[in-house]
Amino acid sequence: MTVKKVLAVGWSQTGQLDAVLDAVLGPLEASSSVAVTRVQLRPLQPFPFPWSFWRFFDTFPETVHEDPAPIDESALPEDGDYDLVILAWQVWFLSPAMPITAFLQSERGRRLVRGRRVMTLIGCRNMWLMAQETFKARLRELDARLVDNLVLTDSSHSAATFISTPAWMLSGRRGPFLGGLVPAAGIDPAEIRAASHFGEAIARQLPDRAADDDSPMLRGLGAVKINERLIASERIAHRSFRLWGALLRRVGRPGALQRRIVLALYVLFLVTMIITVVPITAVIKRLTAPLMRARIARQRAYYAAPSGEAENSGKN
Ligand SMILES: Cc1cc2nc3c(=O)[nH]c(=O)nc-3n(C[C@H](O)[C@H](O)[C@H](O)COP(=O)(O)O)c2cc1C
Repeated sequence: MTVKKVLAVGWSQTGQLDAVLDAVLGPLEASSSVAVTRVQLRPLQPFPFPWSFWRFFDTFPETVHEDPAPIDESALPEDGDYDLVILAWQVWFLSPAMPITAFLQSERGRRLVRGRRVMTLIGCRNMWLMAQETFKARLRELDARLVDNLVLTDSSHSAATFISTPAWMLSGRRGPFLGGLVPAAGIDPAEIRAASHFGEAIARQLPDRAADDDSPMLRGLGAVKINERLIASERIAHRSFRLWGALLRRVGRPGALQRRIVLALYVLFLVTMIITVVPITAVIKRLTAPLMRARIARQRAYYAAPSGEAENSGKN
């Protein structure tokens, strides 16, 4: 048994994703058979927290078109012979957040990931399917081998997190809000602590792995949960973000006045979409579910890959 090298790359605005990464890496760091190198991404210009309303929404065109604000590349290792690269990131506007996109576009980042065995670790509100599709495409371009995907989300009801997540981002307070009507935003701290058992599974399996064994290490452990009722909304919203994002980028640079006018229109459109399209598609999905069972099962299996859902997760 040789010591296996793990590189963990992350960034977090509120510390939430750092805490998830701490929990997952704990058992790996405690193992004498694994050597962990942890790298914090450093955006050259820190993102604001809390966000101002305009800055928050003005960030979406460049985020969805993968044109990120740069990170400090000199803070990254030049290279390394890693047996596993863990890439921890959050979802912004149904796309990978800017810092991890900047990492994957940087020369050193590409070198670190190219051809490597990769695990993605996502911490977000609850809509990550399209973002992971984008991320998978970038990994394929680098011939990286995605072996696992672990996703932790806010387990409160979608309607509640639709209010609590932006309220958290725009005020800096997690809540609860509205006198307790809307529960506190973010991933349940107990779930974050429990994420260490994913780290244990990796610590158990990685040391004995053959170099060409790319089978998942988290299969059957419930590394992801697919909410099938969100699939259609995510697809529609993602397309809309791409179209409006392209228009806004043509109208002006981030912060430009004329861009802000179109952005105001877009925010109105977006809120209308979310409070109409999301529930309507969820209802349609529920009504047509009996007819679409085979298709939905295929979709679930596709989006849950490579780690898969918990063994007994038939429904949500
Ligand atoms: C600009 C912005 C856009 C976001 N968009 C989404 C989204 O589309 N889907 C989602 O599930 N969460 C979204 N979130 C929530 C983040 O994924 C994440 O949960 C939150 O920013 C806390 O992460 P951190 O403190 O670890 O950086 C967004 C957050 C920000 C700041």
